[in-house]
Amino acid sequence: MIRWIPLFFALLLLPALAASDDAARHERAPEPGDEQPGGDFTLQSSRGEFALKQFRGRVVLLYFGYTKCPDVCPTSLAVLAQALGELSDDDLKMVQGVFVSVDPDRDSFQVLDDYVSYFHPNLIGVTGTAAELAEVAALYGVEYGKVDLADSAFGYAVDHTSTTYLITPEGDLRFMFPHQTPSFVILEAIRYVLTADPSG
Ligand code: NI
Repeated sequence: MIRWIPLFFALLLLPALAASDDAARHERAPEPGDEQPGGDFTLQSSRGEFALKQFRGRVVLLYFGYTKCPDVCPTSLAVLAQALGELSDDDLKMVQGVFVSVDPDRDSFQVLDDYVSYFHPNLIGVTGTAAELAEVAALYGVEYGKVDLADSAFGYAVDHTSTTYLITPEGDLRFMFPHQTPSFVILEAIRYVLTADPSG
């Protein structure tokens, strides 16, 4: 039940999504050997334990990155924030943005909180130990790795997958938005999932 939304395809797909949920039934059936990304995980935030399971009933937008990212993370989070900013207050209560830092050595909870709140108050910053993060990343097919920067005060960068994941109120990974997906595509997907009949 997972759909990649490449840019060019999203533009064609979204009117269909908005019109009916037929699209959800026309996906390629999973084949043996397919790895289905997604799943529950537990990490930590400044508010204590963050368990994805606790967010059943809400649409979760999940992104992996790090606060010292020079441009990819800020762009992705700005786009996500723009989509969140278009939601009504009532809809926003049904949505949770989650930024997972894969750079726990530098991203303390304080640093994370300051960073995500700059983009949108709905966002929560979470992280964990290297082992915990590796496990969560594997679930979602996220790749990341340190790159030494000899001439930078930052010391190192972290190359990382820049996909935004949409998890339904039932806890299923439904959409994966590649980097540079426009905010209206994400917004329409959120609205689509919020209004979808879970029994349908
Ligand atoms: Ni980044």
